[in-house]
Amino acid sequence: MDRYAPLRLRTIALVGLMGVGKSSVGRRLAAALDLPFLDADAEVEAAAGRSISDIFADLGEPAFREGERRVIARLLELPPHVLATGGGAFANSEVRALIKAKAVSVWLKADLDVLARRVARKDTRPLLVGKDPLKVLQELADKRYPAYAQADVTVETGDAAHQVTVEQVLGALSDYLETQTP
Ligand code: S3P
Repeated sequence: MDRYAPLRLRTIALVGLMGVGKSSVGRRLAAALDLPFLDADAEVEAAAGRSISDIFADLGEPAFREGERRVIARLLELPPHVLATGGGAFANSEVRALIKAKAVSVWLKADLDVLARRVARKDTRPLLVGKDPLKVLQELADKRYPAYAQADVTVETGDAAHQVTVEQVLGALSDYLETQTP
């Protein structure tokens, strides 16, 4: 039997802080499983017809969060796929409940200094603009880790290449789903 068949039965939602590789790992994970890949941030941008930076600037963060919730609720109704969520999604209790109900959730976790180094390469994240990334990430970690810890599976990625993380996620998901089989 195809050893990955059980992993294709439900959507796999990747959660965790900015810079941890939810999109890059998600795209590779989807390819490995031959599942579609969807990126919640990109879908929010498509629905709003503007970038996340512009949504924050023009409409404010609460409007972004509301759009994010609606978009993720819609995506979770689609057939099984790999879904990269934005860092704030799983921290929201309503979105978290939806993901818990409709998907298998994976928290990708890495040291904050690794994340700070990675996010410094991009200026597309409104929560970081003009701020010390390590400080912001530390504050977000303090607030969000209790929520992220409710994911079905946690994968500590370290600073590994994304393809290595994909292998770790595949192993962790297989182990998890085995414990779930009646
Ligand atoms: C956010 C993370 C971003 C994006 C938005 C807010 C957050 O997604 O949704 O800038 O609150 O952590 P990534 O985690 O994909 O960077």
